[in-house]
Amino acid sequence: MTQTSLPDKMFADEILRGLNTRFIGHKIFSYESLDSTNDTAFALGEKGLKEGVCVFAEYQKKGRGRLGRSWVSPKWKNLILSILLRPMLSPHEVSKITLVTAVSVVKTIKHVTGKTLGIKWPNDIYFQREKVGGILTEMSAEADRVRFVVVGIGINLNAAKNELPPQSTSLKIILQKEISRLHFAQELLRQMESDVLRLKNGQFETMAKEWEEFSITTGQRVTASILGRKVQGQAMGIDAEGALWIRKDNGLQERIMAGDVEHENLSR
Ligand code: BTN
Repeated sequence: MTQTSLPDKMFADEILRGLNTRFIGHKIFSYESLDSTNDTAFALGEKGLKEGVCVFAEYQKKGRGRLGRSWVSPKWKNLILSILLRPMLSPHEVSKITLVTAVSVVKTIKHVTGKTLGIKWPNDIYFQREKVGGILTEMSAEADRVRFVVVGIGINLNAAKNELPPQSTSLKIILQKEISRLHFAQELLRQMESDVLRLKNGQFETMAKEWEEFSITTGQRVTASILGRKVQGQAMGIDAEGALWIRKDNGLQERIMAGDVEHENLSR
């Protein structure tokens, strides 16, 4: 006899039930399959929907990562979510939302599993040398005003090793037990609401301190790539804008506002 188990599906009304948030998740869309939750949430932003709308998907046909990478996540196993926000920020401040989201994600993981994961600047979530989650923030903006922001979050919850890209892992592999996707999703939306409200209330500096507590980049030897130029040195941490400072081997310091860093002790 062959045994088959039913897929662990997540429905919008289940996520909404008992959520009790003020604005994050006031409206939730959930899809079995779509191209990218960021694209769907972006279209909702352009239609004028209120901030806090969430788009969940079980599977993305064109899941996107940062810097032109793809995001691969097996169906029904992980968390694939985009949140629409309408913050009063100028375009150059939007990276603050990404850093705040990374802090919300690691706090939620800690709350739900007891495990402390690390943040690799600016927003990759790591356990030891393997990636567990990532964040892709996209915006619609005028020269000096953000119309809306879409924060896309991908977290490997229950995927098996052979379903994930190399150098990736999931919370299930780390903990050796299944994670309730529904419980995790609700906790993340609650944590996001509390942290986004702190950002709205001008408390980014306290969030940046929390980011530092979880940072696995600060203190490391790193290489940053900026428009084809490489900056090597020791990561000093982030400033009040969320930019990363690197002390180069010649003693001069350089401020990196966007991009990616490679850690010498990590594969990427
Ligand atoms: C990265 O690590 O490069 C960012 C990964 C972001 C993945 C999420 S999954 C939900 C949302 N939709 C996408 O297409 N990408 C983001």
